[in-house]
Amino acid sequence: MTQIVAQTLLSGVVQLPSVVAHRGASTDRPEHTIGAYELALKEGADGLECDVRLSRDGQLVCVHDRTLARTSNGRGTVSALTLEELRTFDYGSWHGHGQPAGLLVLDELLELVKGTDVELFVETKHPVRYRNEVERKLAEALRKHGLTSQIVMMSFSPTAVKAFREHAPDIRTVLLLDRLGRYRSGALPSFADYTGPGVHLLRNDPGYVDRARRAGHETYVWTVDSTEDIALCRDLGVRYLATNAPANTRRLLTANLAT
Ligand code: G3P
Ligand code: CA
Repeated sequence: MTQIVAQTLLSGVVQLPSVVAHRGASTDRPEHTIGAYELALKEGADGLECDVRLSRDGQLVCVHDRTLARTSNGRGTVSALTLEELRTFDYGSWHGHGQPAGLLVLDELLELVKGTDVELFVETKHPVRYRNEVERKLAEALRKHGLTSQIVMMSFSPTAVKAFREHAPDIRTVLLLDRLGRYRSGALPSFADYTGPGVHLLRNDPGYVDRARRAGHETYVWTVDSTEDIALCRDLGVRYLATNAPANTRRLLTANLAT
């Protein structure tokens, strides 16, 4: 048992990580479909994660990959197709537990979380042909829906996080990291609130969570599904944990508290 868990158990207060459903409950439902997000809410997720891209006519759509091949019966590049064209494809049947499902647009997801206490983590993908237009449009959509405190913007691109902060200074941000590199000390640029390392980085350098905390940054970790990784994040005092299987992750987080 690590020192953090020992201390919190002794003091009687255990702060577990918030469970964030990565692409929805994407183990059991096709990712980025409304069904995946509805299941995540039903399973009691504290937060939802999605990726956004711009269609050719400037609409924010929830698709992870640059192209359609993996997660739909369509072909081509998301940014080269209009919303109407993107809507002609089926985004559900490719998945083992999938039913036919339509394209998810960000507006629908914003409507789903509005009025709940669930946080929504929106990741903008880069590089893309429209550069930081996606951050401008995202800030505009959030203003239109009147959403601020429930939303967290994320990107692997520091330029994107900086651009978003300029458009929406009151919305929290995560700088996602697939290597620690220049951020190894725990310090982040001023436009980033949280740090967002992949769980592989914590396996190699568990002390990073504490260094980031001392530099003023809580941690959002992706993508955490295995028993070992869940226990690691819990023991390190990670703030947010993104998982493809929210119900199972919650069960493991609470079941293993005394281990
Ligand atoms: O939540 C962050 C994580 O989603 C980043 O990786 O490729 O799954 O978008 P990816
Ligand atoms: Ca993502």
